[in-house]
Amino acid sequence: MTGPVSSAQWQPLLAEDMARVDAIAALVHAGLPERQAVLAQKRDLAPATCLKLVLAETIVGYGLAHPWMLGDVPPLDAFLTTLPPSPDCLYVHDVAILPQVRGRQAAARYVAILAAQARTLGIAHLACVSVYGTVGLWSALGFEAQDDPGLRAKLSSYGDSARYMTARI
Ligand SMILES: CC(C)(COP(=O)(O)OP(=O)(O)OC[C@H]1O[C@@H](n2cnc3c(N)ncnc32)[C@H](O)[C@@H]1OP(=O)(O)O)[C@@H](O)C(=O)NCCC(=O)NCCS
Repeated sequence: MTGPVSSAQWQPLLAEDMARVDAIAALVHAGLPERQAVLAQKRDLAPATCLKLVLAETIVGYGLAHPWMLGDVPPLDAFLTTLPPSPDCLYVHDVAILPQVRGRQAAARYVAILAAQARTLGIAHLACVSVYGTVGLWSALGFEAQDDPGLRAKLSSYGDSARYMTARI
């Protein structure tokens, strides 16, 4: 989909890929587990913005994102009821890449794909919750931390390091 032919490629995430996504999530997010059905629902609701990272015909990572509202943080491991009728952001629920495949700027390429899709949809922002101290990574991709105290309760399911961040595109 993007990037040189020899590198890992972002491709559409299919329903049959979800078992592999679940396995990668279990490895990468051992401390923040989510049910496979919860992850699958995001793909079902927003297939255009949920992608897999493929290297040598193997899924080595994934990105899950969906249209959403700024300032609203879906709790971890919870089903979405529905997507908003007039979304004002693409919410990046998760990007996870197997450790041995990191260092290729794949997350940056995923964010660039999302930004292009957001523009197509007339959406002006991306949003995410930074965990594991990744504020620096997201900042480098154009995100800014939003320290609204009203968000604290909404962030609680994401662990102590969680920071809500948004990017204007
Ligand atoms: C986040 C993740 C997807 C990034 O993978 P990637 O695209 O291969 O990222 P890279 O290794 O190419 O790093 C890109 C840049 O971010 C920096 N970076 C990587 N991890 C970082 C971290 N935890 N905190 C701050 N900066 C980080 C790198 O130093 C690099 O900087 P550079 O461009 O100046 O060299 C991957 O590290 C991962 O799967 N981590 C575990 C899950 C996770 O934290 N997901 C995000 C949850 S909010």
